[in-house]
Amino acid sequence: MLSINEIRRQFPILGSNEVIYLDSAASAQKPQAVLDAVHRFYTEDNANVHRGMHALAEKATVDYENARRAVATFIGAAKHEIVFTSGCTGSINLVAKTWGKANLKKGDTIALSVLEHHSNIVPWQQLAEEIGIILKWIDIDEDGTLLLDDFANVKLVCITGCSNVLGTTPDLKLIVEKAHAAGAKVLVDAAQLVVHERIDVANLDCDFLAFSGHKLYGPTGVGVLYGKRELLENMPAFMGGGMMIGHVTKEGFTTAEIPSKFEAGTPPIAQAIGLHAAIDWLSKYSWEDIQKHEQQLINTAIESLKSIKGLRILGLPQTGCVSFVIDGVHPHDLTEIVGRNGVSLRAGHHCAEPLHERLGVNASTRMSFGIYNTKEDIQKAVQEIKAAMQILKI
Ligand code: ALA
Repeated sequence: MLSINEIRRQFPILGSNEVIYLDSAASAQKPQAVLDAVHRFYTEDNANVHRGMHALAEKATVDYENARRAVATFIGAAKHEIVFTSGCTGSINLVAKTWGKANLKKGDTIALSVLEHHSNIVPWQQLAEEIGIILKWIDIDEDGTLLLDDFANVKLVCITGCSNVLGTTPDLKLIVEKAHAAGAKVLVDAAQLVVHERIDVANLDCDFLAFSGHKLYGPTGVGVLYGKRELLENMPAFMGGGMMIGHVTKEGFTTAEIPSKFEAGTPPIAQAIGLHAAIDWLSKYSWEDIQKHEQQLINTAIESLKSIKGLRILGLPQTGCVSFVIDGVHPHDLTEIVGRNGVSLRAGHHCAEPLHERLGVNASTRMSFGIYNTKEDIQKAVQEIKAAMQILKI
């Protein structure tokens, strides 16, 4: 069983603030182990990677590559299948702009769900504008469950592992099986899922998987793209610059082997090392305990929110967050008022406008959870929501 007090003590921001932090789906807080790793890198080990022969450069390179190894182990991949990017958005853009351009042509169809957030929509819309691919939307029912059709004639399925609004978790294994049976590749957006559930890409058999470091208790500025070796090897490079090349002449260039081929310029070294620390830190706890604790948080949130008059929970939340609307209350007004008393919620469309349109609402309020949250956090937030409604005279 997790000791949440012991976990909370490892997050300096939770001790130095009166904050009730319920916005981990936007960005999670960082434990001391991550802060220390980043600080240690800059104070003791700072140098560029894959360039210098001096001791610091060699140490930085080893640490950076060890971070890649840790990520690979964490998600069941091979080391060379892990590309460090700027974030989940950077990872999905990389796939759209390299694999997408090389493998899709005018009239080809890709499928994506209405659950997706903008990072897994806009890159595909850009590709549609550029080369004329067709986007086929997978709809949901009233509970937020995907209405899966077959994937006949679909070349790529782009699917979230966990909705950042509804907290619903599509059946990825089934989607991958169906997609592969139809000859389609699958890209999983694991931005929300990766912190709540063990991911094993080998078992899942997805073709690409993307996530950010900062939602996994790691630093901002680093993301991960997993891609199957054969796919990465056959994709053209993304950005051009140092380290992604084999040789450069006045006439042209050759590309480096994977994963360097996709890591032009100085990569996010300190951030990758911080992400390694986050993975090591999280791995001290069992997924079973984490999920049990987080399930209790979801249950508490659903039960407590139901006591608010005129409140409607969106979908059937399973993992990570609960979003809701309240009759006559604008989410921005609500979160601004509760925020004055230290309760951090998120309001708006949460970078998922098509989903909100599908649900028939302009905006919602979201309560999202991390390993450090407690039932008391949720109860305090609900109390403050009720108090805000009095101020708003609802
Ligand atoms: N997509 C992130 C969120 O859900 C930013 O808040």
